[in-house]
Amino acid sequence: MIVHTSTIRSVLGVVVGSTRPGRVGPVVANWFASEAEQHQFFEVQVLDLAMIALPLLDEPEHPSSGMYTHDHTRRWSETVAGADAFVFVTPEYNRGVPAPLKNALDYLYTEWRDKPAAVVSYGMTSMGLRAAESLGQTISALGMLLIPELVAIALRQRLDADGHIDPDTSMTSGAQTMLDALARLTRVSMLLRNNAEPVDSGDLAISRATRRDAGEIMTLQRAAFLSDAQLYGDPFLPSLTQTRDEIANLIDDPSSVVLVARLGHRLVGSVRAKLNHDRAVISRLMTAPDLQGIGIGRQLMSSIEAALDSEQIELSTGSLSTSNLAFYGRLGYREISTASVGNDLNIITMSKTRGRLGRS
Ligand SMILES: Cc1cc2nc3c(=O)[nH]c(=O)nc-3n(C[C@H](O)[C@H](O)[C@H](O)COP(=O)(O)O)c2cc1C
Repeated sequence: MIVHTSTIRSVLGVVVGSTRPGRVGPVVANWFASEAEQHQFFEVQVLDLAMIALPLLDEPEHPSSGMYTHDHTRRWSETVAGADAFVFVTPEYNRGVPAPLKNALDYLYTEWRDKPAAVVSYGMTSMGLRAAESLGQTISALGMLLIPELVAIALRQRLDADGHIDPDTSMTSGAQTMLDALARLTRVSMLLRNNAEPVDSGDLAISRATRRDAGEIMTLQRAAFLSDAQLYGDPFLPSLTQTRDEIANLIDDPSSVVLVARLGHRLVGSVRAKLNHDRAVISRLMTAPDLQGIGIGRQLMSSIEAALDSEQIELSTGSLSTSNLAFYGRLGYREISTASVGNDLNIITMSKTRGRLGRS
């Protein structure tokens, strides 16, 4: 039985470029985000620089080195690396870009590279066009793929006295044209970034695994967790030594849920969960190594969450797996405990309660 069929969605980061108290930025960004949510291609994340709260650039090395000394930089790096395209929502400050936005861009380098970008500007008479112009130069210098489509908003006409935005048709149609252009370029840029072949069918079918899938799951598991073996210096991780029969038994176990994702006939991902009264424990989220970073893991996570009716969902990962930790954080999981397993290695357990599940 297919539990979920969907087109793989790319992550669109909508960056709120102003940070001052009382700013208009979130109103404009939320309007654009709601337009983008209607566009089936994207999963939207609003990245509010006021919440992200980066200090003025304080890294000693050039960002292109990727050598970061501060946690705030590492967190920002994970966030930006996790998005596939960006829309920068910027006001115009003294004919230029607000300092927090320029600062946030300057913090990183590789994380921006080869990703499509567009600008939504707003301002008084100029509609923020001079800020958009200057922002374009920075975006291009970072190797992003800036599209020419622009939405420029005149605040005097489009913001009412209560601070609500009143979009006209040029804004809404402009937003959709921009999103179409971004979607087109995002497909190409993913190939560039992953050095991958085009994924033929956009339709990912997620279903409950059957015993017959056990061999394929085992093969995928060994390929997908090989990087963990290198990261942790351990070729005997349980994910690598688990046998086909053990996986088949799990599939048959009524207290387990095992899902598989297929693109056409190919098994490209899997995840499983073990039910334990009011708690479910998710494990072994895996995606074929040549198809990582295109949203299969996210789709598997939302399918398994939907298939579970436990009040609380937990998962664990090793402390060195920083991108996994950031990924689960973006899905709403929060750290609840850390257990030391020696050699400076910790197992971090994260959890999400039913109230938060809808928001991933
Ligand atoms: C420091 C500052 C400089 C500004 N400079 C300009 C400008 O050059 N051109 C313009 O059209 N509006 C300018 N404005 C007005 C802004 O467009 C307007 O206040 C807008 O709401 C700012 O975005 P925010 O509310 O998200 O900070 C400026 C506002 C501020 C606070």
